[in-house]
Amino acid sequence: MVQEDLSFISHLKKGEVIASDIYFNKTLLVKAGTVVNNELLKNLENWGVTKLQPKKQFPPKKNKIENLVKQKEKIFYSKELFDIKVLFYESLQYVVSEARYGLVLNSDVELSWLENLFISSLLDSRISTLLFSLKKQDPYSYFHSFDVFLLGSLLARESGIKDIRSFAIGCLIYDIGKLKINRKLLQKDDTLSKTEYEEMQKHTVYGINVLIENDLPLIYRDLIKSHHERLDGSGYPEGLTSEFLSEEIRLLAVVDTYSALTLQRPYRKNPFSSIKAIELLLSKENKYDIKYVISLMELIKIYPKDCIVKLSNGKRARIKSVNENQPYFPILEELDTAKVYELPLNFSITIVRFIEWENIVDVKPDSEINKKEIYWNYFFNEFINGDLEEAMNYFPMVTEGMASNNIFIDVIIRLIKEVETKRIDGQLSIGEEHDALLKIKEIISLTLV
Ligand SMILES: [Fe+2]
Ligand SMILES: [Fe+2]
Repeated sequence: MVQEDLSFISHLKKGEVIASDIYFNKTLLVKAGTVVNNELLKNLENWGVTKLQPKKQFPPKKNKIENLVKQKEKIFYSKELFDIKVLFYESLQYVVSEARYGLVLNSDVELSWLENLFISSLLDSRISTLLFSLKKQDPYSYFHSFDVFLLGSLLARESGIKDIRSFAIGCLIYDIGKLKINRKLLQKDDTLSKTEYEEMQKHTVYGINVLIENDLPLIYRDLIKSHHERLDGSGYPEGLTSEFLSEEIRLLAVVDTYSALTLQRPYRKNPFSSIKAIELLLSKENKYDIKYVISLMELIKIYPKDCIVKLSNGKRARIKSVNENQPYFPILEELDTAKVYELPLNFSITIVRFIEWENIVDVKPDSEINKKEIYWNYFFNEFINGDLEEAMNYFPMVTEGMASNNIFIDVIIRLIKEVETKRIDGQLSIGEEHDALLKIKEIISLTLV
């Protein structure tokens, strides 16, 4: 008979006792004797621990469990973990403000997700050593990377980036080449000379040397080297164009620019407001992938003036004006009723999503692919949220110029696959998947027969 391997954490049950200490590198994460509960299971998953030493089969005595639970706090946090936690909260205080993040980090769930991601990344001593050195070399560069880590990780999760953990670490170290740039140059508050600017740009290439010297995997290489490349080939160091830039690089470029524009820098002129930074990104769709600019707006729920948005009451509205200190409570004008009001502070009405912005509607031919993708997102969101009629408004835009066999492959099959992915990810129940498939059948009969 084949014996089942019980050393995977997926076999752990609540109330069981961990039989031997669990280490990550040299750090003690969980001490033997700890009772398994939901929090522990979640932490193990976040830390990427999948396997344990084989379990001993012993039922713990009741009073022993109670003592162990009391000692849990002591057991759980080694000195190193404690230092990382302190750094996380110190950095949070430095970078996070509602004027730049909206209300997204008012949620404990988001905050503890980021905290766990940060801790598990820095438990790799190569990463923590590099970040501590960067903080010493130039505190601003460190806090900027931390800022990019927070926004980048949240956005990666919303945008379906596959390996979020690696991407999050990439966000922490993508500017690590700055370790090799002279501190005086990094902190210079005047305009840089041509030579100085060229030296500064080299942080992208120096970063790869840092990666190699510290024996870090090459999966971070492209983020480090290419985060200043732009879709139209105007970036550096290689002037790569869109076809060479991965989704991860495109997302990082958006977040990096947003952070660099809006984060307060010691001894430098006033930063951009979040609104101004988003307007700038929106207006440069030849350089930045517009779908990530839209995702960023939707994440922090900050929309510039003249954006058309969909509200939770089903209405569409134009953003009439925005207060830079509280950009998440704009003044709106409902399109069909012309009613003007401030987004209610009690959240009785909220902005569900972005629809369009004047400068984006007027899309140039070279961004045709992005435009199609934006329409696809509208179509798919309406389709999933149950509004087939509204979804079908976007169908002609999504299928424009396609022959009917292409509509079948590029739209219908894609729709079926995305519905299936959502069900596998747990975002749709089997019943909801069934309803969605019926709707797809309806679309086929409406459009292809
Ligand atoms: Fe950079
Ligand atoms: Fe940067």
